[in-house]
Amino acid sequence: MLKVDAEFWRKYTKVYDTLNNVISYQELLADVCNELQIKSGDKILEAGCGTGNLAIKMKGLGAEVIGLDSCKEALDVYKQKDKDAKAVLWDLSKTPLPFPDNYFNKITCVNVLYAIAVEKRESIVKEFYRILKPEGKVVLVNVEKNGSVCKIYFHHLNLLFREKGAINMVANLLKFLPNALRLLYYNLFIVVDRIFFFVMNS
Ligand SMILES: C[S@@+](CC[C@H](N)C(=O)[O-])C[C@H]1O[C@@H](n2cnc3c(N)ncnc32)[C@H](O)[C@@H]1O
Repeated sequence: MLKVDAEFWRKYTKVYDTLNNVISYQELLADVCNELQIKSGDKILEAGCGTGNLAIKMKGLGAEVIGLDSCKEALDVYKQKDKDAKAVLWDLSKTPLPFPDNYFNKITCVNVLYAIAVEKRESIVKEFYRILKPEGKVVLVNVEKNGSVCKIYFHHLNLLFREKGAINMVANLLKFLPNALRLLYYNLFIVVDRIFFFVMNS
């Protein structure tokens, strides 16, 4: 049984970018950017930025992005992909967060809070509101309570099948399957180790 600790995230980071080949993940990142209505010069915190995929996409849309993550290896990958990346090594459950009040126009936290102990979540979200400017926007994304993480792969394969046919779909599946299986395996432990679903009272 794996424990969801620093070593766990180090291993997770090694296979995470396999998701860049998965259409559903690309759709998710695009949806987050659309939801944020990014304007040039927006100062955005990507809380739990991992290997920086969303941070890099938002920067490409003109935002000034700070990526925060507790996994040094993930931030190293992010900085390899973007030499000028502003990356902060920090554990979100350690509050207050290292930013002044009213600092960011926007904050994203995508598939991170569900992996953090339930009793820490409320203070983290309160911190997001402290460091957010008035009229700012926060986008939180979490795995559905009863949703299967497998669904993102099924959606991807279904789209590929319809657009490129069965042979291309199988070839694509074989390419990312080993790492995808490892990611699914790791997600099982997040489910077991933490309270999986996200509950927050307003
Ligand atoms: C599923 S990845 C999401 C990465 C990114 N947001 C994305 O959508 O591609 C989860 C990330 O949360 C980070 N994480 C987990 N617990 C954390 C914590 N307590 N503080 C900061 N980052 C954390 C992990 O290191 C990992 O990089």
